[in-house]
Amino acid sequence: QCTDIPLTMRFDCHPDNEASQTSCEERGCCWKEEVEIPERQHPFPAPRLHRPTHGPALEDLPLNVPFCYYPRDYQGYSFVNYTSEDHGYTGYLKRDTASGFFGDINVLKMDVFFETETRLRIKITDPARARWETPIPHVPDVTKPVNKTSYGFEIHEVDGAFTITRKSNGLPIFDTLDMAPLTYAEQFLQLSTSLPSEYIYGFGEHLEGLLLDTYWKRRVLWNVDEAPVVGVSAFPKLLQNNLYGSHPFYLALEPGGNAHGVFLLNSNALDVVLQPHPALTMRALGGIIDLYVFLGPTPNAVISQYTEVIGRPFLPPYWSLGYHQCRYGYGSVNRTHEVWQRTRNAGIPFDVQWNDIDYMKDNKDFTVDDVHYGGLSEFVNEVHLAGMHYVPIIDPGISAAEQPHTYPPWDEGVSLGVFIRNSSNMPFIGKVWNPVATTWPDFTHPLAAYYWGRQMMRFHNQIPIDGAWIDMNEPSNFWSGSFNGCKETKLEKPDFVPPVHGDVLFYHTLCMSARHHLGLHYNLHNLFGFTETIATNAFDDSALQIIRSKRPFIISRSTYPGQGHYGGHWTGDVYSDWFNLWQSIAGILNFNMYGIPMVGADICGFNGNTTANLCLRWMQLGAFYPFSRNHNTDDAFDQDPVALGEDVVVAARNALTQRYMLLPYLYSLFFNAHLTGEPVARPLFFQFLKDRRTYAIDTQFMWGPALMISPVLKEHVTSVQAYIPHGFWYDWYDGNLIEGEGDYMNLDAPRDKIPLLVRGGYILPVSKPANTTTDSRKNGIGVLVAPSEFGRASGEFYWDDGEAVDTVESKMYSHVQFVSGPGIVNFNCTRAGYTAPITLDYMYILNVSSNVTKVDVSGRKVHFQYDESNKVLSVSDIGKNLLKPFTVTWK
Ligand code: NOJ
Repeated sequence: QCTDIPLTMRFDCHPDNEASQTSCEERGCCWKEEVEIPERQHPFPAPRLHRPTHGPALEDLPLNVPFCYYPRDYQGYSFVNYTSEDHGYTGYLKRDTASGFFGDINVLKMDVFFETETRLRIKITDPARARWETPIPHVPDVTKPVNKTSYGFEIHEVDGAFTITRKSNGLPIFDTLDMAPLTYAEQFLQLSTSLPSEYIYGFGEHLEGLLLDTYWKRRVLWNVDEAPVVGVSAFPKLLQNNLYGSHPFYLALEPGGNAHGVFLLNSNALDVVLQPHPALTMRALGGIIDLYVFLGPTPNAVISQYTEVIGRPFLPPYWSLGYHQCRYGYGSVNRTHEVWQRTRNAGIPFDVQWNDIDYMKDNKDFTVDDVHYGGLSEFVNEVHLAGMHYVPIIDPGISAAEQPHTYPPWDEGVSLGVFIRNSSNMPFIGKVWNPVATTWPDFTHPLAAYYWGRQMMRFHNQIPIDGAWIDMNEPSNFWSGSFNGCKETKLEKPDFVPPVHGDVLFYHTLCMSARHHLGLHYNLHNLFGFTETIATNAFDDSALQIIRSKRPFIISRSTYPGQGHYGGHWTGDVYSDWFNLWQSIAGILNFNMYGIPMVGADICGFNGNTTANLCLRWMQLGAFYPFSRNHNTDDAFDQDPVALGEDVVVAARNALTQRYMLLPYLYSLFFNAHLTGEPVARPLFFQFLKDRRTYAIDTQFMWGPALMISPVLKEHVTSVQAYIPHGFWYDWYDGNLIEGEGDYMNLDAPRDKIPLLVRGGYILPVSKPANTTTDSRKNGIGVLVAPSEFGRASGEFYWDDGEAVDTVESKMYSHVQFVSGPGIVNFNCTRAGYTAPITLDYMYILNVSSNVTKVDVSGRKVHFQYDESNKVLSVSDIGKNLLKPFTVTWK
């Protein structure tokens, strides 16, 4: 039973405590210490560009091959009865032998809901006693099952296992048979499945490439304030470090060229082991098993189905798509002003100025240091007059060491009883930054949003902020636990703790016994940043909304599934090095898959000093992050483009100018994300699923279906080896046709240019750039027509006032469809809900092969130019109202 189990089928029977041969065999498991690890079968991941300068490389982490593993005949649960119900199945599982984990739950109930044709949900609960269930908003409550499904579901009675197949080809996509047995104990839940291929993505937040390494790698999901480095290597940790957010979601590709997704709705600490069978095992420290499976079959469809459950992404205000600039430690309003001014003087498109905690008095929320930041409100007014916006940091830790009646955030929190409590029912006290002591609002408390909204409102009366940057919300606590740590209980120190930073769950955060309105911190920890985002977005339906009567803009460090509906994210304290420049692409793409398309990394890097060479290339890549912000730590030198010299300025100005031209396209992608959930920034394989060579690419990415970005990620080079999938592509800068052959090509990338290719078959709405979005919105728009090999193209354009609340829901927007064939483009307005005039001023048509003699706009002749060498037809002065249908033809 033990000897013939291949290494790839060894599942850890004893991840808790210290395993020994005796304790292993007591569980009925097999023990074998020596392991011969076979060669990697799977090219992971290509290409490896840089080694990290901090910490080990992912491929060098020790492997998670267990000594203690389950035998072939291991008997865990078996089904005692199950019935086919209207909604799917209901079954009961029973276990007769002890798992070895504390508090086995011997009888389980499993409900299977066939929720939609492409989505099923499996809930495994304790029928005798309610357990913690993660309360995220938006989860559809499906009462009526569907008749037609694209999946099959089968139960294996004796093994207590189940298999979900894709009906169209019979492929098992989630199959627990012969994997690590289902385990369900008080503080240890385990569910394991084989995978149809090694192509699996997700399970963030970690610092790693796009394609996950399945070579016995273990990843931990437990929100923590730690600078992103690749996993800790000391045996027996074997892990990919936990970071600021937790997303128990993965997307997997199948041999048949389909994709599916899986979401484990569980907010407890989790870890995930991937091994090269390929198989994966998810282990949670509490809650229930609440599993969603999405059948896709395309990656875009998977994300759409996933965000239908967790909530669709918010539509960001138009201005927030501009360039943002920040640093920790400007030190004064004068200095902030100076850097703001020099960036504008340099002609760099720029929309949003930020300030970090140094604007506060003694780092206390909702205060302003009137010595160094005395003129802050005047400065913010000046920013507004320039058509720009202002966003400050707000931390969740509230100073708890103030004299009564001197600090409303503390006084009001106490009187409303909204702070997280300790076991004596007093505010839980820890420490963040300088205040002597800090406490935290409990954002699950029914009055917390009211409390938080009041603080923000009062602050807004003083400084007219336009958004909120919410940091330190893992929540971070410089003491681990309270001043005296936390009690020695199973809650604080369960038998099984995944290898988290600091080795204990309460490391750099609150005690697990801390009490929220909805339950224990043990269960709610991973939801803190998410619930804070909800409260910041809406109090009485509208904190930032009511205060400003405008669309809220929130960027949060800590996240959980559902975040994207309320706010965005930045990837935290990344190091200023080439490795992090590269890894930021995977970071951005991952969060797009998690339904949080408004995401960016600190441009030029946060920790450590950047260099002009690095920052130049980072400004170019960062110009194509959906959320584009340069930010820096307090002990590094300035890294705004002007500080780094003329060629960084030129590169930044050029790259951001391209971004500003593309903003109507970007905004339309955000509209599409809001409507369907489809990502804004996408991995190449999202668009080229039939092409396996795209599966590991994380050095290039797409904006929607039509724009490919291939940044320079190495020093001292002026070209990029870029993968060009089959089909027609056009150089964004000159319109030249590139026929993609599914191979790598050299693209020219001098220091002032980031390679951009437009995909044939698409029409992109564009605008004349200006130095702010406020000014660029005043210009009419244009379109770029990039025909496919068949001479056809299509596209869409979403437009509204850029900042009103719920424009999509209240239909206060306009929408135009573009369709083009040889010699013709039709403009068809499908909605004219935003009535301010918007005109089509100009268009570029690419790959026009013959000399053109005439261009007509709905029968009227217009001026044009034809560039013979690049085969580009340019038409200007069109001046057509896009809210009415019209046609442009050329011969
Ligand atoms: C940590 C954040 O990640 C960083 O961006 C910020 O500058 C510092 N906190 C100071 O507020």
